[in-house]
Amino acid sequence: MIGRLNHVAIAVADLQGSMAMYRDVLGAQVDAPQHLPEFGVTVVFVRLPNTNVELLYPLGENSPIEKFLQRNPSGGMHHVCYEVADIQAALQTLQEQGIRVLDPTPKIGAHGKPVVFLHPKEMGGVLVELEQA
Ligand code: CO
Repeated sequence: MIGRLNHVAIAVADLQGSMAMYRDVLGAQVDAPQHLPEFGVTVVFVRLPNTNVELLYPLGENSPIEKFLQRNPSGGMHHVCYEVADIQAALQTLQEQGIRVLDPTPKIGAHGKPVVFLHPKEMGGVLVELEQA
């Protein structure tokens, strides 16, 4: 079921500063910010040879990232994203195994592909995003 590690997402308190750090200090390719109002986030992809880093910054009212930053003022790792070949088949298998899905209706994520999030409780304490490959 599980495929490539698509990205590791990091919530940041200073988006411009984090972009500059990855671009100017670490020498990575850093994409332009994308605003995703239905997730309450602005995302920036940092392109690495074998995966990506997704910088997350609050957007709008009641952003889940704002709440995360209140608990973690310096920022921190927010989730990992694995690719799956067939997200509906993956959801069915996971639900049959008792893995909780936060919202079982896939939403269109930052890459224009369906995504769902799995509850951290069953996933080793880590929020997991699945993305249709
Ligand atoms: Co993500």
